[in-house]
Amino acid sequence: MRTHFCGLVDETLIGQTVTLAGWTDVARNLGGVCFIDLRDHEGIVQVTVEPENAAVFAVAASLGYEDVLQVEGVVRARHAVNDKIRTGRVEVIATAITVLNKAAPLPFHAHENPGEDTRLKYRYLDLRRPEMQRMQRTRTRLVQALRRHLDSAGFQDIETPILTKATPEGARDFLVPARMHPGEFYALPQSPQLFKQILMVAGFDRYYQIARCFRDEALRADRQLEFTQLDMEFAFVRERDVQDFVEDMVRSVFREVVEVELDAQFPRMTWAEAMRRYGSDKPDLRIDLELVDVAALVKDSGFAVFTGPANDAGGRVAALRIPGGASLSRKQIDEYAAHAAKYGAKGLAYIKIADSGEVGSPIQKFFSEDAFAALVAHVGAGRGDIVFFGAGGYNQVSDFMGALRLKAGKDFGRVAEGWRPLWVTDFPMFEWDEEEQRYVALHHPFTAPAVDDIAELRANARTAVSRGYDMVLNGNEIGGGSIRIHRPEMQSAVFELLGIGAEEARAKFGFLLDALNYGAPPHGGIAFGIDRIAALMAGTESIRDVIAFPKTTGAQCLMTGAPSPIAEAQLADVHVQVRAKHPA
Ligand code: AMO
Ligand code: AMP
Repeated sequence: MRTHFCGLVDETLIGQTVTLAGWTDVARNLGGVCFIDLRDHEGIVQVTVEPENAAVFAVAASLGYEDVLQVEGVVRARHAVNDKIRTGRVEVIATAITVLNKAAPLPFHAHENPGEDTRLKYRYLDLRRPEMQRMQRTRTRLVQALRRHLDSAGFQDIETPILTKATPEGARDFLVPARMHPGEFYALPQSPQLFKQILMVAGFDRYYQIARCFRDEALRADRQLEFTQLDMEFAFVRERDVQDFVEDMVRSVFREVVEVELDAQFPRMTWAEAMRRYGSDKPDLRIDLELVDVAALVKDSGFAVFTGPANDAGGRVAALRIPGGASLSRKQIDEYAAHAAKYGAKGLAYIKIADSGEVGSPIQKFFSEDAFAALVAHVGAGRGDIVFFGAGGYNQVSDFMGALRLKAGKDFGRVAEGWRPLWVTDFPMFEWDEEEQRYVALHHPFTAPAVDDIAELRANARTAVSRGYDMVLNGNEIGGGSIRIHRPEMQSAVFELLGIGAEEARAKFGFLLDALNYGAPPHGGIAFGIDRIAALMAGTESIRDVIAFPKTTGAQCLMTGAPSPIAEAQLADVHVQVRAKHPA
């Protein structure tokens, strides 16, 4: 149907006849002559239709946006060069135009940027836009580069089941009714975690898979119900073997795909340090603001909100100094407090020091003059600054002060250019869940503890550290992994600590315990979020932009209309009775 791609017609073709096919980006009839911007996946070329050719001109004059055309013509040097497009030095003088398909009036035009709901409903139109094409290409190149890297390092690409048994990663499962087994369900994998571990038991040594994962959890800009991991596992390794290999891989794919040279060695930080300095387990190191602990300076103040947490081992009182922040108005301070509240803050105290030196603070009254001066000095506050204070439980304060740090970083232009990767290590093994009154795994229940001794782990569960690690880039968790438990006794002990009794462990994970029992090698691995890395590479905030057909934050596909009701007969077929019907 065509001899060349529109976007690749160049000066080497001048004088030649070409046949092109593509969409009418725009057609302008200037009376004397018609110009068509013809677009395909490579780009746009100008097609010029001269009035001497009356039949062709008549077709050109009738074109609408996005009509699909086949154009035959002769390539000619252009008088008015357009430097903005690759083909800007040439034009194609049309000798024939065939309309392959007319397009109906469009809900939006390629050059517009309508609301996301409209874009998602007509995703095929949205994806036609060059910006979206560019982002998908970046994703393709990322996956190609990763595969090349792993194939040449001897990894085996092995597929694991989609219809399977629950693999807990901390989210809800998607369930599929089993027609052949009334009342029973398959679960879609939250990750291939258990299968990849069993592949190591099975002697494959090094595995990878570009794997789709399914998690029924609240959606955000960096989270989808189904998303793609680069999933990897290695036998006979310790942390550094995995980390060094994948760090090298990430460096090389960034070089290949986006010509970015990442640090020769990624910095490393323990979870405890990341929480203390940045209030986050995925700190954005591009922002130079840091939290400062002030418990020692406020523990004897008259402010109960501070003295409680300051005198409690599980509490935290932290300060965030924002240079130049004294410019914040009362209303803007309230906005900061509202932002912190979204992340669990009960209030947000502050000290504001105007350029004149005048101090404004709702908490000054709780301190002696000396104690207040000492506090101000400790956080390094001076004229023009504002200092926010958070008090409460350790993780809660870290969370909302960390969120404030990000907001202040953006608002005050303190996000440096560039790429700041890091490893976060030494995660706590468990987190105490107040509601459920039990431990939950911070990574997943198959992560090895740093201590090898079961009795020691039991005795110090609250403070136990795991062999998990995350790779973080510019404040995004792009990958997470660990060294795994490979001895069945340790796995059983961890299940028990997580409140999973022996019977339940057998029913849910008996196959894993069995496999560990028959000669499991020490092993470990990691999984990267392909969507997140692609979004970073493409320079977009939302992973929806690099997923061809994403779901909305309301968990729907606006194009297909999924999810949708199912006919009674089909439900009966899979032995399902719906308890709450969607209000029609
Ligand atoms: P984890 O749950 O940390 O680890 O997931 C690994 C990486 O996958 C990405 N990711 C997501 N991306 C988009 N939408 C989501 N809902 C989503 N959830 C996670 C993140 C994350 O770093 N089995 C373990 C890996 C291992 O231990 O080897 C796992 O799945 O980038
Ligand atoms: P109050 O005297 O109750 O008005 O509180 C004084 C200041 O402390 C106000 O600015 C509150 O927003 C702030 N505050 C209340 N609770 C907390 C908290 N948990 N952490 C930080 N500041 C708080």
